[in-house]
Amino acid sequence: MENEKITVSVIKADVGGLCGHTLAPEELLEACEAVLEEAVDEILIDYYVTRCGDDIDLIMTHKLGCDNEKVHGLAWKAFEEATKIAKELKLYGAGQDLLADSFSGNVRGLGPGCAEMEFIERKSEPIVIFCCDKTDPTAFNYPLFKMFADPFNTAGLVFDPSMISGFKFEVHDIIGHKKVFLETPEEMYMLLALIGDYERYAIKRIFRRKDNEIAAVVSTEKLNYIAGEYVGKDDPVAIVRAQSGFPAVGEVLEPFANPHFVPGWMRGSHWGPLMPVGEDDAIPTRFDGPPRIMALGFQLSNGMLIGPNDLFEDKGFDKAREKAFEMADIIRRMGPFQPHRLPSGMMEYTTVPKVLKALEDRFIPLEESEKLKEGSQKRENRDDVE
Ligand code: 13P
Ligand code: MG
Ligand code: MG
Repeated sequence: MENEKITVSVIKADVGGLCGHTLAPEELLEACEAVLEEAVDEILIDYYVTRCGDDIDLIMTHKLGCDNEKVHGLAWKAFEEATKIAKELKLYGAGQDLLADSFSGNVRGLGPGCAEMEFIERKSEPIVIFCCDKTDPTAFNYPLFKMFADPFNTAGLVFDPSMISGFKFEVHDIIGHKKVFLETPEEMYMLLALIGDYERYAIKRIFRRKDNEIAAVVSTEKLNYIAGEYVGKDDPVAIVRAQSGFPAVGEVLEPFANPHFVPGWMRGSHWGPLMPVGEDDAIPTRFDGPPRIMALGFQLSNGMLIGPNDLFEDKGFDKAREKAFEMADIIRRMGPFQPHRLPSGMMEYTTVPKVLKALEDRFIPLEESEKLKEGSQKRENRDDVE
């Protein structure tokens, strides 16, 4: 067992809600559990099934590596079984995230989201699994930056000798379909220049620079523009390794003590505060939110998932929840106006193109703008002469 690599795979999907988009009921979780239980020893070492709002999260350990067909196929089968029940019960959006009719090799591109990492288990291996609802993977840009690059959040960056050389961030350009690696602390400002833009850049993975050990990974499967349309809203999951050479569990959780605004919430089309909650409170109802995040702490023991410790259940996060409610009240007042409403390119649902089409013949040029156009034409002509 020693020195053998363990893979942690978290694969998630929304296959139906009770009622509306609020909750994946127990029946669906049981259907998934039954499928995973069958696979213990043959494919999996261990598993834990949970839900955040209407999203089911399958937390699995095994030795088959990332992107393994058997593991992904198993998750697909679990979601298919849960979908059958969701359809029988006529749950809302039954089968919502199973975009393909059948499984082909890997869940990527088929609808579910997936975060996986492979590593040699340390003498003690604490990991934190984050599960969200009503937001998208860029929700992790801000807290992951704080965890792995901000010494005011993570004291270990200054005081732990194996962290002092910093971390390497793999950032995906969603629109350009490319990625770049940036190293902190030296390239911190360039990193921020990118990841502060939720429309275009998302952190996918983080590595410790000292030895290139994987430290964190986020599900970013649907974060793409397909045929010019933003389809990125996919309630994400993330895996973060903690302690000895990585941020302490408390440092991993600290960014959530002051809620930040994330895209998502009602119809995937609004900014809202990301509220940290325990498993029992991950039921977003107010305006279908506010967006939620759960943090489940496990110790790995030869691949067995010991736990979870429901970390945001702690009273230490009560104030963060209160703040999130205040932020929610303030931004809700804006109704359909920005900055509550997302920029057009990030809205999951929008009638704007249809409204523009309907009004096509009713738009008339502004006189002033015609004059301005003339003026700039004259200026151009003058420049040509010069
Ligand atoms: P989900 O992405 O959680 O299914 O929510 C969609 C929605 O429209 C919420 O208002
Ligand atoms: Mg849903
Ligand atoms: Mg959801």
